[in-house]
Amino acid sequence: MLWKDKYELGVSQIDAQHKELFRRVESFMQTSRSAGNWEEKVPKLNETLEFMKTYVVEHFRDEEEYQKSICYPGYEAHKQIHTGMVNYVLEVSKQYEDSNFNEQLMQQFGGKLLAWLINHVAAEDQRIADYAIKKGVGGNGR
Ligand SMILES: [Fe+2]
Ligand SMILES: [Fe+2]
Repeated sequence: MLWKDKYELGVSQIDAQHKELFRRVESFMQTSRSAGNWEEKVPKLNETLEFMKTYVVEHFRDEEEYQKSICYPGYEAHKQIHTGMVNYVLEVSKQYEDSNFNEQLMQQFGGKLLAWLINHVAAEDQRIADYAIKKGVGGNGR
């Protein structure tokens, strides 16, 4: 798994959500790129995609709540990045349906999603933890 413990924010709910997102996105990408008949993979990919659409929104909401609770100064900017990502996922998801479950589109999407997740969690989300530590309100004894 591409998850690393150094990505932890020290907030158990958020950390658990990040791990689940890594797990799902990785498996999504692996499935989309694995050998075999595309039609057979479509149901599994659709299921993960539907899960993600809900889970990502929930995660972003919880993470934004946490930011507010510690008066994180980057809250507005961070929220905008989240909104942009949700819109991107919904847009690709619609293209995917309109294209009648295009294989290449989903393979590209899986790769982009994983790259975005790693970058966002390792950089943008880490800034929240850095701030919490600086303010002395970090979770899990950090
Ligand atoms: Fe996050
Ligand atoms: Fe975030």
